[in-house]
Parts: sequence; structure tokens; C-alpha cells
Amino acid sequence: MAKTYYITTPIYYPSDKLHIGHSYTTVAADALARFKRLTGYDVWFLTGTDEHGQKIQRIASEKGVSPKEYVDGIVEWIKGLWKLLNVSYDQFIRTTDPQHMAIVQNIFTRLYEKGDIYKSEYTGWYCTPCESFWTERQLVDGKCPDCGRDVELVKEESYFFRLSKYADKLLEYYREHPDFIQPESRLNEMVSFIKSGLEDLCVSRTSFDWGIPVPFDPKHVIYVWIDALSNYITALGYSTDHDEAYKKFWPADVHLVGKEIVRFHTIIWPAMLMALGEPLPKKVFGHGWLVLEGGKMSKSKGNVIDPWVLVEKYGVDAVRYYLLREIPFGSDGTYTNEALVKRINSDLANDLGNLVSRTVTMIEKYFGGRIPAPSQREGVDDDLIQMAVDLPALVERYMDSLQISNALAEIFKLVDRCNKYIDETMPWVLAKDAAKKGRLATVLYNLAEAIRYISVLLTPYMPDTPPKIYAQLGVSDELTTWDSLKAWGGLREGTEVHRGENLFPRIEEKSERPEAPHEITVSNAPSTDTPYITIDDFAKLDLRVAKVMEAERVQGTDKLLKLKLQVGDEVRQVVSGIAQHYAPEELIGKDLVLVANLKPVKLRGIDSQGMILAASSDDGGKLVLVTLDGDIPSGSKVR
Ligand code: MSP
Repeated sequence: MAKTYYITTPIYYPSDKLHIGHSYTTVAADALARFKRLTGYDVWFLTGTDEHGQKIQRIASEKGVSPKEYVDGIVEWIKGLWKLLNVSYDQFIRTTDPQHMAIVQNIFTRLYEKGDIYKSEYTGWYCTPCESFWTERQLVDGKCPDCGRDVELVKEESYFFRLSKYADKLLEYYREHPDFIQPESRLNEMVSFIKSGLEDLCVSRTSFDWGIPVPFDPKHVIYVWIDALSNYITALGYSTDHDEAYKKFWPADVHLVGKEIVRFHTIIWPAMLMALGEPLPKKVFGHGWLVLEGGKMSKSKGNVIDPWVLVEKYGVDAVRYYLLREIPFGSDGTYTNEALVKRINSDLANDLGNLVSRTVTMIEKYFGGRIPAPSQREGVDDDLIQMAVDLPALVERYMDSLQISNALAEIFKLVDRCNKYIDETMPWVLAKDAAKKGRLATVLYNLAEAIRYISVLLTPYMPDTPPKIYAQLGVSDELTTWDSLKAWGGLREGTEVHRGENLFPRIEEKSERPEAPHEITVSNAPSTDTPYITIDDFAKLDLRVAKVMEAERVQGTDKLLKLKLQVGDEVRQVVSGIAQHYAPEELIGKDLVLVANLKPVKLRGIDSQGMILAASSDDGGKLVLVTLDGDIPSGSKVR
């Protein structure tokens, strides 16, 4: 029987639409769930909504609808968002589901009967405009810490959970299960919190009624955390006559939560489970926050990032990649649009997208579009192959310790290695020598096979991209599994490849700073006495790839050629002084570099719209045109 894996997200408050911060948790949980499915686990991935409480009751009444009507609308929106983000949850629980409500009542009654819940009096400070209760300690100069207004002392009959009784048991549990709370820094916080003294927890309210009634005292509703935390077991049918899922999946392998609710999940929740005599979850992972440059994202500040807008603009896999790659899981991270665009352009467009398109193009060009059989292996292949073969286990280790960004970084190291392999083996040079056909075949086979490894491993993070790559490389279904990565050489020779659309078009945005070309390093002074220029000076040049379509001599001169160049969709005419070095016919089809924003001039009465780049020896005796080291569409920017 397959091993099981149960993963949960927090259940979100449907008080408003969710933002990119909530999407971050859910996408991370999805990547983990998909990874476990890929590696053969029987996975249960639970998410949902936490629908009760005073805040939602208030918002609904402001809108003139019932709380249920209000949350129904938001829940549909949330489900749509998860669909858009390709979130593969197995179950969506709502705390208004009748089964959840019945089980929560059952849990409350059992805890009451055991003596772990008792009735007493709640004393607290109430701020009427904010509708919030505060403890003495939370007040600021005796006033409401939120709005600074006067508060009044209220006493309310309430039920309490005997949390204080569990302090030592919790500390003991942490000691015996050092992996229970992660990352470790959060464990230390929880230990100090418990040691500073645990008070019993107020678990019912009579001041509002949008909640689950206490079954034996219905003027009380069960206060949110008992209701919310129970979702992790009510979803599985805990304590019912159909509790197969509970038996199969509980205890959860990991509760993924934001750092601000680690306390509820590692103190209250385990204490509740101890009181019920049920096993505790194996791990609670408290990840960091996604913040904005101006601070925390919040609807009231009006600075939230709408995931819907991002996905429409950049595509779902690009957004998922950014969320999972940019910030080490566990730490806080700042969301910036520049960083997102940079990740897309450098990792996805330049590195991954180009690798796939170059490889498929070369197989088409040199082997008629069929994957060739490898024959002549050389030393340089070993490093690439070893790296690919070792990668699945490495990625698995990182995923098992929830280091999602490191797992992705490892996969992209193989992408980089492949690009370097192309530079090292220079297939376009091998292609010129018929005797090296076997070697060329081996290089292209290895690239295609390495791309297959990369694609299979990327599935959990960017589920839409691998199928596009499989279609280009003709990878059949049985070669897309985890087991198919056990041995190198799965791809069959003769498989037809099909060049497809660009996987990740570059994003050109005004806000994007031009990237420095790799050759320019700050430490190297110019070899001539030309003064330094800044990157902004360099960015003024619009250099483009231009393909020569036509070339002819300019009558009456011995230096000038008139060229027609294809630059993306545009055709440019350029007059160039290279006639003594190049015959017109040798230029046709060459890819050159054009200074596209040079002011147009007339040379010998002929319009010249730009200039092509060439290197010439100091005495002018030798001149060679600047060409490109691989295939790339005309119009591409040179930077
Ligand atoms: N309903 C409770 C959770 C109950 S779980 C039994 C709740 N809901 S919430 O809607 O406020 O969502 C909380 C979760 O959303 C956080 O724990 C976190 O996982 C995620 N995030 C909300 N904003 C976030 C960021 N800015 N950054 C990262 N995660 C964020 O609390």
C-alpha cells in the first residue's frame, strides 16, 4: 500500500478577497502535495475557509446580506483563485459545512464532560467602535490599542479550556519531537511563550451569534479557534461512523501556516488533541510573510497585490515560480515587481526557455527533427549526466525538509549546466564536420534527456510547463514519471521533436533596469583610454539582431553595400562600408547586430536606417562582422 501524506493550509477568513500572501501559503502547499504525489505517496491536501465570527457577521450586515450569503460569494471567488493558480487540493472544507459543525459540537461536549472545558466568567476591556475585547495587558495607556479610544470593563459568562494544565506536557512533547515545530527559531519562541505562563483560554461568546452553538448551552457560540483548528480532523470524518479518511491520514504530516498563527497550532491545537486523547500532527511549519517595500500587505492599507492581475499579466507558472523560488521558505521576503520580472526574464526566458528552443532547433536542423542516438561519449558528458542522475534525490531531500526554494535552485543548476554544456561542446562547430556527426548526436541526445529530467522535476512547481516541453521533445507519458528518472537514457532515438511556441517570452517593462552584459565587469578598466560609461548610457543603445535578406553594391563606390535587413517584423535598409571585406552574396542569411536607434542618414543619396557592428584591426586592413553564437529570432535585443 502506498505511503500516505496529509498536508493542510490554514483555513482562510472569507471576510474579503485573498491576496498574494494567502496565495503564497497555498501554492507552497500545492508544490509539496504535487511533489509527494509524483514520488508515489497517497496524498490528501486540505484547504478551506474559516467562516464564523463577529467580523464576518458585521461585514455581512453592513452589506445587508446574511453572513452565509456573504461568505458563499467569497468562497466561490477563492475556489476560482485556486483553480487559476492550479492548486490541486483534494478537499475544501468550510466551517459552515454541517459535518464540521456537528463534529465541533461533539468535540466541545467531550472536552466539557472530561472537565477540560468549564464555565466561568470572562473579564475584559471592550472597545465598542472596534467591537474588540482586550486584556488589561494589551491596553495602551488604558485605551484601545487599535483606535486609542476609551474602553469599558465587561464581564461575560464564558466557557474556558484548561490550557494551563497542558504546559508541561507540551514542553515535554517538544523535547521528544524536536522536528514538531519548524523552523527551529519558532520552536524557541513557543518554549519561551509557554514558560512565561499559560492561561486558560476563553472558548465561547454570548455577544454575537454567527458561530457554532454550544450544544448544551446554545446562548453561547464556540469561539473561533476551537472551531477553526478542529477542521483538520473534522474534514476526515473524525468521531463519525465514516472515519476511514481519519484512520488513513491522521496524524497530519504537516500543517503549513503563517508565522503569526504558529502559536495556535503548536500550543492550543496540540493541547486540544491531548485532551481528546488523539495523536498530534507530525509537523507544524511556520513560514514567513510576503511583505511589500512599504511594510505589511493589508486590505486596510490598500496595498495588496492581487494574484489575479499578476497571473493575467505574467502567466500562472511564472507567478508560482517566483513565489516558490524567490524567498527561502520560512523567512520573510519582500515582493517587488522588478524581482518578479527579473526572475521571468533571466531564469525562465533566458535560461530554461532558450535551452529548450535551442535544443529542439538544433535537433531539427542537424537531424531532421528526430532525436539522434548517442554514440560517442566524452568526459564532458559525465559531469552533466551525473548531475541529472543525482538530482531527483537531492530535490527530494530539500522538499522533505520544506526547503522549496533550494529544491528549485538545484533544478535550475542543471538548466545552467546544460547551457554551459552547449558552450563547451559547440554543436554548431561539430555540425560543420561530417566526421563529428556521432559526437553531435551524443551532445544533442544528452541535452534532450537532461531537459526531460528538468521537466519531470519541475512538475510540482510549474505544472503547466512540463507538458509543453514534452510536446516539443515528443516525450511519452511513461517517461514523465518519477521512476523514469531512475536510469539515464529513457528518451528513445528517432522520437520526433516539434518546435513550439516560446515557453516564456521576455517581459519588457519600463520599470525594469537593463541587465548588465556579462562581459562588463566593474573591476576591469577599459583597455583604451575611453572614459567609463554607466549602464544607463549603455541602455541608450538599441541593439537588435538583424537578418540579412538582400545585399548589393552601391553603384559608383567600392566601399559601400546596400543591405535589406529583417528586424523582427520590420525591414530596414542600411548602407554599410564593408564592400572590401564581404561579397554581397556571402552576407545573405547572416544574423548581425544592428544599432537600431541611430539617427537615419542619407549616404550617396540612399537612406541608411541604422548601422551594423563589425570589428576592425587598428590599421583597418581587416574587418569582420559581429555575428551571433546561436539561433535567436531577428529583432531580439542585444544587451
Ligand atoms: N482563519 C485563520 C487561520 C485558521 S487555521 C485553523 C487565519 N486566516 S487568514 O485569512 O488571516 O489567513 C492566514 C494565513 O494566510 C496566514 O497564516 C498565512 O499562511 C497566509 N498569509 C496571509 N497574509 C500573508 C502574507 N502577507 N504573507 C504570507 N502569508 C500570508 O488566520
